[in-house]
Amino acid sequence: MAEIAVIGAGYVGLTTGACLSQLGHDVTVADIDLPRIEALQRGKIPFVEPELSEIVNTGIKSKKLKFVVGAKNACESAEFHFVCLPTPANNDGSTNLSFFKSGIEEISEVLQPNSILITKSTVPVGTAASLKAQLQRNDISVVSNPEFLAEGNAVNDFLYPSRIVIGAETAEEAQRVAGLYSKINAPVITTGWESAELIKHTANAFLAMKLTFINEIATLCERTDADIQDVAMGIGYDPRIGASYLNPGPGWGGSCFPKDSSSLAFIAREAGFNFTLLEHTIDLNRKHVERTAMKVLEMLPQEIHNQKIAAWGLTFKAGTDDLRSSPAIDVLHHLVAEENRICAYDPTVTQQIAQIPEVHVETDPYICAENADVLVILTEWEEFNEVDMARISEIMKSPNLVDTRNLFNREQMEKLGFTYLGMGV
Ligand code: UDX
Repeated sequence: MAEIAVIGAGYVGLTTGACLSQLGHDVTVADIDLPRIEALQRGKIPFVEPELSEIVNTGIKSKKLKFVVGAKNACESAEFHFVCLPTPANNDGSTNLSFFKSGIEEISEVLQPNSILITKSTVPVGTAASLKAQLQRNDISVVSNPEFLAEGNAVNDFLYPSRIVIGAETAEEAQRVAGLYSKINAPVITTGWESAELIKHTANAFLAMKLTFINEIATLCERTDADIQDVAMGIGYDPRIGASYLNPGPGWGGSCFPKDSSSLAFIAREAGFNFTLLEHTIDLNRKHVERTAMKVLEMLPQEIHNQKIAAWGLTFKAGTDDLRSSPAIDVLHHLVAEENRICAYDPTVTQQIAQIPEVHVETDPYICAENADVLVILTEWEEFNEVDMARISEIMKSPNLVDTRNLFNREQMEKLGFTYLGMGV
């Protein structure tokens, strides 16, 4: 079993470190955030992620998983160093590598000879090559090993991945990193640095494009009396298309799709290639969010002003407390601009949120919907199915329901007295 350092205790770093310890390795996770590390040492994880808490606590008990402040302290004796530092977007869509680079700078001198620096963070193509140059150490190898962890399913995605991608300069280096995953049953794809880096961006950009496509077809369904759920099922059985990522929604978002698609479009522009398909995908998603907001406004009785909009769901999808680039918040921004009163409920958000302070956050779905003129469902939380919708219909001022995730059944909702608007149904 190997001695591993993980730099960064965010979603990717914490999941990576905890799961590697679960596979039997000795893992030290480092972060600069002292309160975060102290909480982790006590087994408290800083965000909502199913199964992660159990794995972290098992790792702490078995002493296979440790948390320290400062990357140097984790890297000094390790053979493998996973870099899991944030790589946010700049305003022009390019990737901000400053956290990533300064993290590497901090550890470059303490790395053991013959150890391997592994990039897990999503970085632009060419980063491994420039990292190798930045390091100025011929005794250190650089390997790209991108993550494909979806929030809310990250532990499962790590331990049961569809594939493991390893981009390395030599077969021997790739083999050493592949060895860390020997207990995992998944195809290992070994490539050069650049291909591995591009695989990550391409996967997310492709999925974003697939979602934009299905959101566009959902709009077409609404204008042609077709049902998107039937259409998605009808195409999803074709293995060349595949059944996943065919659920329409308010627009795609999250900490990865928006920044990764913009980053890839930027990379293409820099490479002298105008990647119009991807540029349009990003633009169409923005328009789809606007269209979603329009649906809500159209449901409001025209003659009354200062109406109450109730919104269920604030995170970018169900199963997480992550509000980063949430399409739910983008939709609400459009609605706030129309001077409506907005009240929101989300199972993982209990306080007012800085991203949209105009929205009043309630911790009870009934209080949120009381006297509302319209209720809009923005994330697909299963909890919403447990709410007594008959009661909701009674307590709303006008029982108008805009279900952007097609969580409810139109006939059932109409029987309860709702005027129902789904997404492409
Ligand atoms: C994504 C990738 O899935 C993961 O492999 C990568 O490493 C990180 O980025 P994540 O950001 O957690 O993961 O979200 P994901 O579950 O992929 O959803 C992204 C967006 O698409 C969300 O806004 C979600 O609501 C939306 N979506 C997803 C749909 O609207 N419909 C679908 O059918 C699936």
